[in-house]
Amino acid sequence: MQRDIMRYLNPSLREIEAYSVEGGQQAAIKLNQNESPFDLPMWLKEAIVAEFVREPWNRYPDILPYRGMKAYANFLGVPVEGVMMGNGSNELLYTIFLACLGPGRKILVPDPSFSLYEKIALLLQATIVKVPMKVSLDFDVDAILRRAQEEAVDFIVLSSPNNPTGKSLTVDEIRRIVSSCDALVLVDEAYIEFSRQESALPLIEEFPNVVVLRTMSKALALAGMRIGFAIGRPQLIAEIAKPKIPFASNRLAEITLRQVLENYAIVTDAVSYILNARDALYGELVSLHRVEPFMSDTNFLIIRVPDAGEVFRRLSSRGILVRNVSGYHLMENCLRFNIGLPDENSRMLEALLSIDGSMA
Ligand SMILES: Cc1ncc(COP(=O)(O)O)c(C=O)c1O
Repeated sequence: MQRDIMRYLNPSLREIEAYSVEGGQQAAIKLNQNESPFDLPMWLKEAIVAEFVREPWNRYPDILPYRGMKAYANFLGVPVEGVMMGNGSNELLYTIFLACLGPGRKILVPDPSFSLYEKIALLLQATIVKVPMKVSLDFDVDAILRRAQEEAVDFIVLSSPNNPTGKSLTVDEIRRIVSSCDALVLVDEAYIEFSRQESALPLIEEFPNVVVLRTMSKALALAGMRIGFAIGRPQLIAEIAKPKIPFASNRLAEITLRQVLENYAIVTDAVSYILNARDALYGELVSLHRVEPFMSDTNFLIIRVPDAGEVFRRLSSRGILVRNVSGYHLMENCLRFNIGLPDENSRMLEALLSIDGSMA
């Protein structure tokens, strides 16, 4: 019998691709995944592991990781019922999208934005209303408001600061959207620690229809540990947590989070280094002729070059791995790279200076 396996599967799988990291995940100078360049100090890793070995590994963790939730809720000064902890914020995106979307439901997504939003929405057979950014890559708030109302969307996702553009909304702009749209608004603050703008967290007290998403993968340098949070009003969090995978956060993640939050000076020091390095590098790049940098509120920079494929290859040949984001709407010939260690940033700058000279 001739069997067509696609016939057995969700038809929306035909429209999506497996998540991939173009260029891979190995390089001498790896700047392509917006990670922190700093691993935790060994004394802190050892303290975390020492606590972890005393745990009962044969026992399930709590269904909801209460210890981790409590640590982060205390850190933010919100009630523990107002937070949901996940195995990375990606897991929470799946959870929240499952809670909000399905066939016949509409989601508004600014374009370009984090690719996972569209992927999950397609999988759930929701209708996607894309609202283009401005040519400057800034959010077009008026267009978001207009389209949200015209299309009567149920759900709006705003990555602010936004990956891959590096641009943010102000809290007032987010307030305008939350207050005037009859929709749940998810504000993904993966890069908020690097932003010139304030967090949208205070809006949770003002409005019932806002959820803020945070990750520990960027400023907190814990991408390998897989920790993320959603924050909202307790009643809303209780509802949107219903599709959550039980036991998704493990004991090690809870212990790591608590210990890192107790030593938060490590994070603030790293963030202030990254901000200084980002602004210094931007300052150097504006003087180049063929490389156009965009101001960024994140731990990465976007540059536009005459031929992104060619510059990507020339950087690769020097062992520098960046992300070619040319495929995104409005981002033709753009490359994205995160701030690295001082020596890595110098080598990146040196490479761009030499490429700029040879492209003249
Ligand atoms: C905007 C945005 N949201 C969420 C994530 C996912 O983070 P996590 O590592 O917590 O799953 C990323 C990762 O790059 C991101 O850029």
